[in-house]
Order: sequence, then C-alpha cells, then structure tokens
Amino acid sequence: MPVRSTGPVVPSRVGWSELTCNPRHRVRPVPRQQVQAEQALARSRAFLEAMRTRRTVRDFSDRPVSYELIRNAVATAATAPSGANLQPWRFVVVADPQRKRRLRAAAEQEERAFYSSRASAEWLAALEPLGTDWRKPFLETAPYVIVVFEVHKGPRSPRPYYAKESVGIAVGLLLASLHQAGLATLTHTPSPMRWLNEILDRPAEERAFVVVPVGYAAEDATVPDIGRKRLDEVLILPDGTEGAVLDVRRSWSG
Ligand SMILES: Cc1cc2nc3c(=O)[nH]c(=O)nc-3n(C[C@H](O)[C@H](O)[C@H](O)COP(=O)(O)O)c2cc1C
Repeated sequence: MPVRSTGPVVPSRVGWSELTCNPRHRVRPVPRQQVQAEQALARSRAFLEAMRTRRTVRDFSDRPVSYELIRNAVATAATAPSGANLQPWRFVVVADPQRKRRLRAAAEQEERAFYSSRASAEWLAALEPLGTDWRKPFLETAPYVIVVFEVHKGPRSPRPYYAKESVGIAVGLLLASLHQAGLATLTHTPSPMRWLNEILDRPAEERAFVVVPVGYAAEDATVPDIGRKRLDEVLILPDGTEGAVLDVRRSWSG
C-alpha cells in the first residue's frame, strides 16, 4: 500500500494554539495508508482469516528460511508503539548450530526442573492439554531462534516506561509478520531466563522476554486440538452488553 512520505512541518500559529502538548515538539503529518472504504472490510476479513491459521508449532523442518523474512519481521516489530517511545527491545537472531545447541541444553536443564518440581500441580494441569514436556528439540531444528529482550536502565539505556507492555506489543507484530510470510513460530518462555544473557553475551540491563524459534512446520507436524473462547465471551459491546452474540450488522459508530 502506498504510504505518503512527508518531512517535518511547522504548524501555523493557529495550529499551535490547538495543540495540547509542548509546542516545541516537532510534528509531521500522519502517515496514511490509502485504503478505499470498499476495500477496508475485505482487507480486515482477510487479515482475520490469515491470523486464524496461526498456531504455536513445536515441530520444525530444517528447510532453510530466507534471512530477509526474519529481518522484515524484526523491522515490523520495531514499528510497535512503546512507553514514551523508548523502544525498550532488542531482538537477538540466532542461527549458528553450536549456539542453538547451547540454548537447547540450557533450556532443557531449566525445563527438567520446572516439570519435575518447580511447577505447581495447577500449572502442570493447565499445560496437560498441550502435551509439552522438558524436551525442546525445536531450539536446534528451527533454522532461526529469535530471543527478544526488554531493555532496562543501564549505561547505554534510559529507564523505560511500560517495558513489558511495549515489548509484548512488539512481539505480537513479530509473530504476525512471520505468520504472514508462511513461517511457523513458537513463543517459548523457559523460566528463569537469566542464562540467556550469558549465552548470547547480552548486558545485565537486558532481560529476556521470550524465545521464538522460527521456521517451516515439519511435514508431519501436529498441534494440540484446543479451542478459542468465542468472540461473545471476550468482547463487551459498546452498550455494555456482556456475553451477547455479536451481530456484525449493528453499527456502534453513531
Ligand atoms: C507468553 C507465552 C508463553 C508461552 N510459553 C510457552 C512455552 O514455554 N512452551 C510452549 O511450548 N508453549 C508456550 N506458549 C505457547 C502457548 O502454549 C500457546 O500459545 C497456547 O497453547 C495457544 O496455542 P496456539 O498459539 O497454537 O493458538 C506460550 C505462549 C505465550 C503467549
């Protein structure tokens, strides 16, 4: 979609008087995608249908993945909004087999402890339908593993605001971009994750947020047969109606 490219502009006197924030800040026009009204619904439906096919995959093929797809996904993630625009994220892309082997060994060590003693009975019961255990072969088989870090206050970085929220939104965009490119992902959170700083040589102010193996799903890959909440269970309508069956013909715009 074409995006209008514009440089910074200086608002008129009248414009300044209408602004509610510091008039010394620099502004530019809103970048816009030109979406025709009649295309909007089709595009929105197509995106929904595409995202409905996203699943967490735990069996990867070793089929090579173009690095540009990874790079574009990280660039997409980096467009995310963030608290005070501090962009408190770092994406470490791992492809080297030896490094991936180290990741797997360390993750499996933590996960063994998690599954055998650290996890509560309640947590293990919640995981039961997924069929997961301490084994993490995907950390080696997936061609890429993207480790996402939150960046906190340190010698080179200011104190962030809403770091977790900001990084969470960025990871959502990362996953959406990879999925749109036909790639499979897994959001993996071995706990604790401090050891990732050492293996990936990251400074102490960076805190691992999630480990994302990326690749093509293996030919025979399966996913747990689990469901989603219905939309009427998660959506509160603008008139406050709870649990109402969504009627897409109702308009809430006026
Ligand atoms: C924050 C977060 C942490 C997760 N951690 C793990 C994990 O450590 N291991 C794993 O196999 N799946 C993990 N998952 C994947 C979830 O189990 C999965 O998203 C959920 O079962 C829904 O399945 P779906 O993504 O296929 O729709 C995690 C997901 C999220 C959002």
